[in-house]
Amino acid sequence: MTLDSGVNWETRWGPEVQMLAAKIDLNQRLLRFGITPVTRDNLRHVLPILSQHLVGITSRFYEFMRRFPEAQRVFDRHDTDRLRKRQQDHWYGLLACEFDQAYLLNALGVGHAHYHAKVPPSLYMAGYNFVVTDLLRLVAMEFKGGDIAAASASISRVVMLDMSLALTAFMLDSLISAGPGQD
Ligand code: HEM
Repeated sequence: MTLDSGVNWETRWGPEVQMLAAKIDLNQRLLRFGITPVTRDNLRHVLPILSQHLVGITSRFYEFMRRFPEAQRVFDRHDTDRLRKRQQDHWYGLLACEFDQAYLLNALGVGHAHYHAKVPPSLYMAGYNFVVTDLLRLVAMEFKGGDIAAASASISRVVMLDMSLALTAFMLDSLISAGPGQD
């Protein structure tokens, strides 16, 4: 899968992320979050609506985050235009519901990148909260005549799945950093 930013997700992540992926059973994770072909079908109906809003959502995300000095300190070291675009692609990929090995590597790789960028976990979770509430608001407002409840449940399932994988990467990375020989 190659998106607008030109990133090839199959080859994006190196051996550290491959090592994290080897510890995870993606099918088990999908079961735990209740993700089935029905989830994909529900999201297929709202993807055309939501994808039009991803630029707006991710722009508002950075405006919101900049209110917090600990986020601003992280952003000061990066090109936020580039990050916004990457994040936009990430949400598109997630809502497209292709839960394969490339997705697993990408979800873990994004968590891994934030761990190493020293993003505080609670701020990171607040980011997921910001985006999911905006997605749900947009579905309620713009999916008139569609099954809003089913679409909302499916959005929640895939966002929570993604967040769980990012958190797993944070936790495994912190265990690795604390391990022997890391003095
Ligand atoms: C909803 C939560 C978030 C998502 C889905 C997300 C998504 C992404 C993605 C897709 C990348 C590109 C990773 C890569 O390809 O290298 C990225 C990078 C980055 N994000 Fe986020 N982000 C989130 C929250 C945050 C927050 C809250 C901050 C800071 C306060 C942040 C700061 C960064 C930084 C500094 C990078 C660059 C990491 C590096 O390459 O060194 N992100 N983000």
